[in-house]
Amino acid sequence: MFRAEFKGTLKGSIRVPSDKSISHRSIMLGSLNKGTVVVRNFLRSEDCLNTLKAFLELGVEIEDRKDVIIIKGKGKYSLKEPFNVIDLGNSGTSIRLISGILSGQPFYSVLTGDQYLRRRPMDRIAIPLKMMGAEIFGREEGKYPPLTILGKRKLKGIDYKSPKASAQVKSAVLLAGLFSDEPVSVTEPAKSRDHTERMLRAFGVDVEIKGLTVSLGKNRNLEKDIEIDVPADISSAAFFLVGAAITPDSEVVLKDVILNPTRTGILDVMKRMEANVKVENIRNVSGEEVGDISVSYSPNLKATEIKGEEIPRLIDEIPIIALLATQAEGETIIRDAQELRVKESDRIKSTVENLKAIGAEVEELPDGMIIRGKTSLKGGMVQSYGDHRIAMTFTIASLISEEVIEIDDVDCIKTSYPRFFEDFKQLLTE
Ligand code: S3P
Repeated sequence: MFRAEFKGTLKGSIRVPSDKSISHRSIMLGSLNKGTVVVRNFLRSEDCLNTLKAFLELGVEIEDRKDVIIIKGKGKYSLKEPFNVIDLGNSGTSIRLISGILSGQPFYSVLTGDQYLRRRPMDRIAIPLKMMGAEIFGREEGKYPPLTILGKRKLKGIDYKSPKASAQVKSAVLLAGLFSDEPVSVTEPAKSRDHTERMLRAFGVDVEIKGLTVSLGKNRNLEKDIEIDVPADISSAAFFLVGAAITPDSEVVLKDVILNPTRTGILDVMKRMEANVKVENIRNVSGEEVGDISVSYSPNLKATEIKGEEIPRLIDEIPIIALLATQAEGETIIRDAQELRVKESDRIKSTVENLKAIGAEVEELPDGMIIRGKTSLKGGMVQSYGDHRIAMTFTIASLISEEVIEIDDVDCIKTSYPRFFEDFKQLLTE
């Protein structure tokens, strides 16, 4: 049991850890590349280290010099059949994207994960990957890991209409598409994060984007010597953005944060809620927009509605946005977020139950929640369900709770933000 009782104000400036999505992709695409890739500011969290380990097991030469990662790729057909089951821990991005890559490898591989990952749906990627010609097996008729993949050297083309706005599904199909000579395209119902498309282009692959459709063009080989500098993760910055907005006298600057428009939904929501948030020093780093975000205590927060196409732009930030909404005047309504039910935990249930447990007024909806504010938070006992973002949300909540918040397990935080408590303490002033 962890006792969260962080009291004081948040002051100062930090660079939160690097972006998880981009760190995963730097290793994956670097491993399919023919050439040398230098990755700076790689996120050394459990999830991303699991991706790195997977490609070592697939025979890729990767040198971990701690300050930089150097990948000496020998091309997309140089991967080797792994000697053992590949364990991806808690990481949904790893298992789903790697499944796309292994679908195009003419060998046998088995992918698994921890008890939480083994309960997450994989049919969303298995369906299109099987349509492309891969053989994929899993528990409960192919739905859950462990997944067994028998890849094919040449996959069929696909024009996939994805039922969900999911970057993991889109990326799995695009990565499998590198192993096809036929037309490959994915259309999503709303735009999800586009880091795979951007990075494939940086490696020289022809990628065409028309509205909500992404297609691969003629060149599907990655052949570049490049450097990737990973910016700070807005999904990690989100905890201190909200922490500072709800805590009197706080004033924080979060540096080098990724501002890719498919990721900045939280900033739009905070502005609508009349939080004092400002973006400065915008620049381009390795093909991604980056800037510094300053935020200060925002005593006049207003409720808002979050739905539709905005949801994929803030999907990972909803638990911490829900905490923010408890401090806003009025009814904040979150809809169209049913995807939250199949994240690291059922995040609708884990957010609503835990907010109620500490004294907030929240109502669960099938696809979201209604939060009624402004309420003072009492404190109490919560459960993280092994979900890093739930554990961090309720640690931040302790800044404004009257009494201690006890969290059953915070160890899961290391999947995305191993330095979370150190950074928190650095910003906290009595
Ligand atoms: C991610 C995509 C999102 C997000 C996850 C990371 C990625 O998942 O929730 O944390 O890196 O592609 P979905 O694609 O399932 O929405």
